[in-house]
Amino acid sequence: MKTPQVQRYDAGQRSNHWAVVTCFVLAAASGFALFHPALFWLSNLLGGPQWTRILHPYLGIAMFVLFLGMFFMFVGANVWRKEDSEWLGKAGAMISKGNAVKMPAVGKYNGGQKVVFWLFTLCLVVLLVTGVMFWQAWFAASVPIPLQRVAVLLHALAAFVLVLGVIVHAYAAIWVKGTLGAMVRGSVSSAWARHHHPLWYRDQMKASKK
Ligand code: HEM
Repeated sequence: MKTPQVQRYDAGQRSNHWAVVTCFVLAAASGFALFHPALFWLSNLLGGPQWTRILHPYLGIAMFVLFLGMFFMFVGANVWRKEDSEWLGKAGAMISKGNAVKMPAVGKYNGGQKVVFWLFTLCLVVLLVTGVMFWQAWFAASVPIPLQRVAVLLHALAAFVLVLGVIVHAYAAIWVKGTLGAMVRGSVSSAWARHHHPLWYRDQMKASKK
């Protein structure tokens, strides 16, 4: 018998997400290649060093623009609520003790997911603004050198935080069984929804009865 499912993402939202992931992987790989000689071999991914240098900023802009789509679709569900602070306070115990810890009921996203959402947003804004400031082909000539140096530093810092954030995000998506299906098929099992996001599940059930 087929497990009852609840729709979580439509096809447009999923395509948007995986397009952002593709840009992220290519922008991160090309950024690493430009960052340190030990990682220079990654430039082969984009057809050599010249192409890497040309394409990296455009990939970053594509990622930003595509992320904007996700931002506007998901921002409403990522507004901070009091149950999120409570959830975050208990997250440490939940990670070490698992299901033995009773977590507060949350909506479509939990406190951890919301922190990651806002962290992604902040990092992408910093990456865009600072990247433009030292983009040699277009804008760098009109930015004073000391300012460009600060921009390079902040760009690397934001990229580092973003990469760490994506590792945590992807790990959590695999660790919480049944989550990946949300972004692959678009649906989750009713049991998953009831267990991890009871307030969202309740709203979905109410909406489906209307
Ligand atoms: C291989 C890497 C990735 C995997 C496996 C992955 C997987 C997932 C999954 C399964 C969800 C659904 C979670 C849920 O509905 O509870 C999700 C949501 C989401 N993902 Fe990813 N993702 C990856 C990379 C990224 C990247 C690079 C970004 C953006 C920089 C991103 C941004 C988001 C956002 C904004 C959401 C909606 C959740 C929210 O708004 O809090 N993901 N991802």
